[in-house]
Amino acid sequence: MHLLPYSLALSVLALAPESLAAPQPAPTSLSRSIPLLRRKPVRNGSEWLKAQKDLLEIKYGTKSGLEKRASGFNLLTNQGADSSFYGSIAVGTPAVSYDVILDTGSSDLWLAAADGVSSSSNGIPTFNPNASTTFNNLNTAFSISYGSGAARGTLGQDVVQMAGFEVSAQTFGVVTQISSNLLSSPVSGLMGLGFQSIASSGATPFWEALVNSGGTLDEPLMAFQLTRFVNDTNAQQLEPGGTFNIGSTNSSLYTGDIDYQDIPSGQEGYWIQELTGLTVNGNSVNFTSGSASYAAIDTGTTLVGGPNDAIAALYAQIPGSQALTGDNAGYYTYPCSTDVTVALRFGSSSISWPVSNADFLLMQVSESTCVGGFFALDTSGTSAPPWIVGDTFLKNVYSVFRADPASVGFATLSSTATAMNGASGSAPSPTVGKAAATVSGTAAASTDKAAGNGALPVELASVAMWAAVLVSGLVSAGGLLF
Ligand SMILES: *[C@@H]1O[C@H](CO)[C@@H](O)[C@H](O)[C@H]1NC(C)=O
Ligand SMILES: *[C@@H]1O[C@H](CO)[C@@H](O)[C@H](O)[C@H]1NC(C)=O
Ligand SMILES: *[C@@H]1O[C@H](CO)[C@@H](O)[C@H](O)[C@H]1NC(C)=O
Ligand SMILES: *[C@@H]1O[C@H](CO)[C@@H](O)[C@H](O)[C@H]1NC(C)=O
Ligand SMILES: *[C@@H]1O[C@H](CO)[C@@H](O)[C@H](O)[C@H]1NC(C)=O
Repeated sequence: MHLLPYSLALSVLALAPESLAAPQPAPTSLSRSIPLLRRKPVRNGSEWLKAQKDLLEIKYGTKSGLEKRASGFNLLTNQGADSSFYGSIAVGTPAVSYDVILDTGSSDLWLAAADGVSSSSNGIPTFNPNASTTFNNLNTAFSISYGSGAARGTLGQDVVQMAGFEVSAQTFGVVTQISSNLLSSPVSGLMGLGFQSIASSGATPFWEALVNSGGTLDEPLMAFQLTRFVNDTNAQQLEPGGTFNIGSTNSSLYTGDIDYQDIPSGQEGYWIQELTGLTVNGNSVNFTSGSASYAAIDTGTTLVGGPNDAIAALYAQIPGSQALTGDNAGYYTYPCSTDVTVALRFGSSSISWPVSNADFLLMQVSESTCVGGFFALDTSGTSAPPWIVGDTFLKNVYSVFRADPASVGFATLSSTATAMNGASGSAPSPTVGKAAATVSGTAAASTDKAAGNGALPVELASVAMWAAVLVSGLVSAGGLLF
């Protein structure tokens, strides 16, 4: 989960005319090869009418007795010029909606609680268990630590809805203590989209409950299209963030095939891919392969972090680059006049996915000096893999997280998708939809995973340490709110 800066004033750069290209029409190649014939209507009037009505009722969730829904989507918000991306969920009875960071780099769901986090002081909408008739307090301590902060509280269960799906007894953290830099209003919490095996609570994540229920989802996968605003000087704090799909991909957001690469055997936990190729402006960068090049594909991390020597080798390919020191050690500066295209290849794929210069250029710090979006970090001694591949990369692809076979897929963004980059608009507001599919509860927290004494799990505490060291010079150090 995220390693970076909301607090950074991005003193970015050139302003190009806004490219507000309208969504492209679907490809029309078919109409060239297939003559347009007016077919005889085959539908039976009254049956057809009824079928159409049923379809509409399913679409809007008004058909009673409906048990299943194949797929759903959630419109995202881009917060702080690509610092984070959030969607919305609804919790409890009556259902109340909340914005949550969607994080493939962790596996716990939690919300700031009305009893602890003071909403008046920081504007974060909070969850009040007393106000939900279906809330079940598990009376178990919960704590989790991320690269950029920590959260503590207790575990509870309640009805959780998202993208048209409902889990009737989802376990989640009701958080009463939270690092001050972890959330930024209007976000109330975080939904982990990693595998259960790395859940601090031990609970089955929402998405996995849907997959495990069998037959609820069209396909056992989730997909993201994330927007880019980092190079847009007019970017507002909140902008449209793209699309999260669950149960199916959205073929209007990508072109060509999705290139799936398996998660290395036994590595399900984070969404792991083996980095097998790294180039800078076409020149190969040396890095250690095998498990030393395992990468977590992480929508909840802003940047891309990798081992010291690989990141040093990467910047060695950019003349004039320089490692920062002290509080900013791990980051590098380079001449803003250099256009940098880094490309990443994963698994046995033959495709190298380029990261645009716009994403590589994290910020300008002087007239001619910029800071790059790839930084060195040391995850040794933690549960995290050596590489964390976050939004700096993910904004450049359509990304798919598939449970079975366990794999991550990337595809080329369509022009419909890229037209949303820098296209200002109002951020979607959280809404309570009508759930069309319900699956029953998630497994209760297992005691070995739950931090019953309120202590941070060792490996996660270490993750917090490395990231705190790396970003402390850039992000105001966050103390607990109380
Ligand atoms: C058309 O629908 C009606 C009403 O359901 C039914 O009685 C009739 O047999 C159908 N006709 C055909 C050709 O399917
Ligand atoms: C919820 O109820 C408990 C027990 O009555 C009370 O101590 C607590 O303050 C209440 N919390 C809120 C946020 O109303
Ligand atoms: C941001 O970068 C993208 C990709 O390079 C480019 O297409 C777009 O025009 C840039 N936007 C601005 C506002 O400079
Ligand atoms: C797919 O994406 C397009 C373009 O954003 C959108 O209009 C459409 O509603 C999406 N459909 C689904 C099922 O996600
Ligand atoms: C990359 O590694 C190979 C083998 O260790 C070495 O021969 C080569 O010089 C290295 N290249 C760079 C640019 O460091």
